[in-house]
Amino acid sequence: MTERPSVLVTRRPPGDAVAAIEREATVWLWEEDRPIPARAFFAEVADADGLYCMLTDTVDGALLEAAPRLRVVSTMAVGVDNIDLAACTARGIPVGNTPDVLTDTTADTAFGLVMTAARRLGEGRDYVRAGNWARWEPELLLGHDVHSSTLGIIGLGRVGRAIARRGFGFGMQVLYFGRRRQPSAEAELGVIYREFDDLLSESDHVVVATPLTPETVHLIDGRALSRMKPSATLVNISRGGTVDSAALVEALRSGQIAAAGLDVTDPEPISADHPLVSLPNCFVIPHLGSSSRRTRRAMADLAAVNLLAGLKGERLAACANPEVYE
Ligand code: DGY
Repeated sequence: MTERPSVLVTRRPPGDAVAAIEREATVWLWEEDRPIPARAFFAEVADADGLYCMLTDTVDGALLEAAPRLRVVSTMAVGVDNIDLAACTARGIPVGNTPDVLTDTTADTAFGLVMTAARRLGEGRDYVRAGNWARWEPELLLGHDVHSSTLGIIGLGRVGRAIARRGFGFGMQVLYFGRRRQPSAEAELGVIYREFDDLLSESDHVVVATPLTPETVHLIDGRALSRMKPSATLVNISRGGTVDSAALVEALRSGQIAAAGLDVTDPEPISADHPLVSLPNCFVIPHLGSSSRRTRRAMADLAAVNLLAGLKGERLAACANPEVYE
């Protein structure tokens, strides 16, 4: 009889993912309603053949050293900036992630943030809640139009392309910048390539949708913000580290740009007394990009499928380090 593999699950995912894993493996689940602390993480991964983790868990060389049996890492996220992919590849460990199933939900969130920031919807809600709504005013909380404006997308991956499609629905001109030009996307979608600085200066709304890598840390810094229009909005749907928070505070305070909408922040979580939270022209939500019921379940299920495939030595349905198979 072959031994059942052991799996460490660092946080209870929605739906039936844990039950699906339990049918084929022995599961150790961190049951508390907070990320697993490093001490428990290191202790429990020591006997694990498979790791099912969250974007809040750091999977680096030190953790892998503590996990001699590990055969597969599966994260319930598309972003893998918390995982040292090269270290996993060097150990022959495939890393599963959850692309595709969250694309449209995340693009919806990005578009919601564009609308909210540009049209000052958060300030409107605060105004009503504060009891200030005494009458209709001809110039109350005037914002900037979303329809018929220019949208600039930084990072034309799956989510970036889904945001572009929404932009066309709003009659926008859609510009993009990325590591490389994408002639097929230009032909299929009608997006227009611009160099980074030109995208910033021409766009009315700039959406950051690029993964966090060493090259994209603080991609949006003081210099980048100074290229943007004073009427422009900045939306970040990627990872907080792509935007220099101090520079963004300064740009929002000084009127260098009009508004920001942030799904992700640096630091994350961000404290309630951080200027990005208290500034009226900055609308912050707590990393909700993919947070619809259906999508989070789909992510949890795909992460379980990846994990079980890895335990069986099969190719993962979605693998963030396919070079591991070369
Ligand atoms: C991801 O999957 O990386 C997203 O940030 C989750 O919302």
